[in-house]
Amino acid sequence: MIPAATTAPDAHSFATSRRPNVLKTAQAKWFRQPLPGCATANASGGRQAPAGAIGWVPRTTVSLVVFDHGSATMQPDLTNRVAVVTGGSSGIGRATALLLAQHGARVFVGDLELRRQNEENFSRLGIRQRACDVRDAAQVRALIETAVKEGGGLNILVSNAGVDLPKSLLEVTEDEWDRCVDTNVKGSFLLCQQALPHLRAAGRGAVVFTASNAGLLPRAHDPVYSTSKAAVVALARALALAHAGDKIRFNSVCPGPVCNTGMMEAGLATKGERAAAEQSFIDASPMARAMGRMITPEEVAEAILYLVSDAAALVTGTAIRIDGGKSLGVPPQT
Ligand SMILES: NC(=O)c1ccc[n+]([C@@H]2O[C@H](COP(=O)([O-])OP(=O)(O)OC[C@H]3O[C@@H](n4cnc5c(N)ncnc54)[C@H](O)[C@@H]3O)[C@@H](O)[C@H]2O)c1
Repeated sequence: MIPAATTAPDAHSFATSRRPNVLKTAQAKWFRQPLPGCATANASGGRQAPAGAIGWVPRTTVSLVVFDHGSATMQPDLTNRVAVVTGGSSGIGRATALLLAQHGARVFVGDLELRRQNEENFSRLGIRQRACDVRDAAQVRALIETAVKEGGGLNILVSNAGVDLPKSLLEVTEDEWDRCVDTNVKGSFLLCQQALPHLRAAGRGAVVFTASNAGLLPRAHDPVYSTSKAAVVALARALALAHAGDKIRFNSVCPGPVCNTGMMEAGLATKGERAAAEQSFIDASPMARAMGRMITPEEVAEAILYLVSDAAALVTGTAIRIDGGKSLGVPPQT
């Protein structure tokens, strides 16, 4: 059972606490870019942004909760861990790469597209990046081998690169099926195949797939994407069973609509009026609706951080929903 939490201290109180990493984490939650779909977070957070910050992303309490058994905060220390994050140039992957690095990991990002705007933040945190198409076995091997060689091993894999395909069965071409399923499923398979010997050699390891609520519930508008994400959830469960003896854990995260990502921006661009389109994504999840905002990339990254940390040492084969209840069922009619 999860122990009851006492009051979570605010960022200021960490300045004088014995947990400098937590202060660092809390400070990293201020963002200087607008946060589409998260606009109401400021009001609901009830906090003032510091000068120069445009958007405020309310943090989860994962790394800040103080438990009443008095042992510690959940403040994962990933020092000396080497992590590969695919799709790490944008959205959820970028937030994950930054968060793991802030917690001490040596992070290697692999992405189809390396984006110049990441260079400053990445180099400040020692994050290295390499172009990699996860559909290509040779490129995946090169990514993993680079991390092992330059990082000194491999402990964490976050298979996050993904593409969506919001089309009905009769609209989907064979090439589109291949692109979606190869990126989302074959990519995860290739990454695990290449990573496994190195995770074994490290004595233990943690793998997280970014699946989706689409992998948990039927969705009429994107049957191929849903199939690919259900396959990823199944892959995590099967590998969790197969490799528990190697002390390698496999888990999935299943986000609902996440704002401020390339995928969401592309989705919004296909709709009509932006505010109405954002609201329809928010309305799709009962808790997102109650909070008046979408899920943030940083909130998904916090769940991934937990799953790769020692706090989750016995957690394997799970699919954590970060979807505001979207996959629970039919909400009350209003
Ligand atoms: N945004 C959402 O609402 C949402 C919801 C549920 C799940 N997801 C999943 O989250 C993951 C990340 O998506 P995001 O929302 O951050 O979008 P994003 O577009 O910001 O990030 C996806 C990243 O994957 C990279 N990528 C695409 N194809 C690749 C390939 N073949 N090889 C290597 N890299 C490749 C892209 O260049 C991009 O940087 C995806 O797996 C997506 O399916 C997103």
